[in-house]
Amino acid sequence: QYMQNGRPPIQRLLVVANRLPVSANRRGEDSWALEVSVGGLVSALLGINEFETRWIGWAGVNVPDEIGQKSLTLALAEKRCIPVFLDEEIVHQYYNGYCNNILWPLFHYLGLPQEDRLATTRSFQSQFDAYRRANQMFADVVNEHYEDGDVVWCHDYHLMFLPQCLKEHNINMKVGWFLHTPFPSSEIHRTLPSRSELLKSVLAADLVGFHTYDYARHFVSACTRILGLEGTPDGVEDHGKLTRVAAFPIGIDSDRFIRALELPQVRNDIQQLKERFAGRKVMLGVDRLDMIKGIPQKILAFEKFLEENPNWRDKVVLIQIAVPTRTDVPEYQKLTCQVHEIVGRINGRFGTLTAVPIHHLDRSLDFHALCALYAVTDVALVTSLRDGMNLVSYEYVACQASKKGVLILSEFAGAAQSLGAGAILVNPWNITEVAASIGYALNMPADEREKRHHHNFMHVTTHTSQEWAETFVSELNDTVVEAQLRTKQ
Ligand code: G6P
Repeated sequence: QYMQNGRPPIQRLLVVANRLPVSANRRGEDSWALEVSVGGLVSALLGINEFETRWIGWAGVNVPDEIGQKSLTLALAEKRCIPVFLDEEIVHQYYNGYCNNILWPLFHYLGLPQEDRLATTRSFQSQFDAYRRANQMFADVVNEHYEDGDVVWCHDYHLMFLPQCLKEHNINMKVGWFLHTPFPSSEIHRTLPSRSELLKSVLAADLVGFHTYDYARHFVSACTRILGLEGTPDGVEDHGKLTRVAAFPIGIDSDRFIRALELPQVRNDIQQLKERFAGRKVMLGVDRLDMIKGIPQKILAFEKFLEENPNWRDKVVLIQIAVPTRTDVPEYQKLTCQVHEIVGRINGRFGTLTAVPIHHLDRSLDFHALCALYAVTDVALVTSLRDGMNLVSYEYVACQASKKGVLILSEFAGAAQSLGAGAILVNPWNITEVAASIGYALNMPADEREKRHHHNFMHVTTHTSQEWAETFVSELNDTVVEAQLRTKQ
């Protein structure tokens, strides 16, 4: 149906994610300011030309009135986005509650709510019901826009019910689901009261993808141990129906970063930063202010390093960009206070009249400022306690072609699987080890830095986000073809 001027038909790709790649701010009754958010998923999919992409998701704003909903729908259509409208109550129960207070911590091995978070567990059932309702709302929008031949790609832990909702409506829909977080050991997953429902729903998809082989393996064992199904080398089998399960490690649009470094504005920023930090080594952390990122542990390791190495105290600075996130969830509010307290203490302890050891910023930087900062950094510290992949580590490597700085990387980030040979891998819980690695990185000879950087740079520039998206979608197409062949036999 999309055949144009004799060219082969272009397949439509419906990308369904909780958050749209643009967030909306209301300016008037029917006027909107749209801000493009360039995260990993967005940049991955912007680069693929083989498909005609439509996004379906939440615009991050409450729009209770019909005029607003109509005008926002029109404004988003220009960006190829289709909104799902969620009211305040459902956002509270589904997004703040079930997604970010239950699934997110659990999938990152922080467990289910305990003690002061216990109050939340009492409303577990209502949050779970809201989660199902929200997933059905996403499904309704997909169903309304779906055309024969489309591929539907569902994303992340917010939408684990979506594959089942979609298949119940149309068994022939091609449905893929990809998880951007870790999938934990089945021993962790089995603590979740709704463990079976979620697994069964995900299995309704034709193809299920994870960042690493380990996450895929954990998912398959959860299905075998909790649901009693059979795990095969290709996935999970349920009474003759196979759901393919595989690893598809995401990447970044590395060219975009490399090109940015050539822009006059960025070169200028780089020069200014070099002057500003002349005589000091620059260490950098860039994280959403999330408990999985291990920011307090990282800062404590830096404190230990300064404690043990007085000669470095005025020769190194740690810049920590902590991007506020999910600020309505109490755990995140507590974390902000905790980080501020530690930073204040260390700056008080080691600061002088002219300099402080930690520059802590509670905000995001625009893309160009971030590239400049990456380029002048001597040592990047990515010390997540758990992380699905972590693309900050990739972005840093992409911007280091001239400096060849060192990456200290948590062994619990998915990226450790791909950048492990070039980075210094650490256990972020072991503050002594991280402090020692900081010393090792700051003193590393140029030839070792070069070798390590080369390894990582090759990886980051060849395993790009475009390649990731194309591989997933082409496998999804193949999976469906295979299934059709099997039913014909
Ligand atoms: C993680 C999740 C994404 C999410 C992002 C930002 O990377 O995997 O699905 O969009 O965090 O979080 P937010 O809650 O602001 O969408």
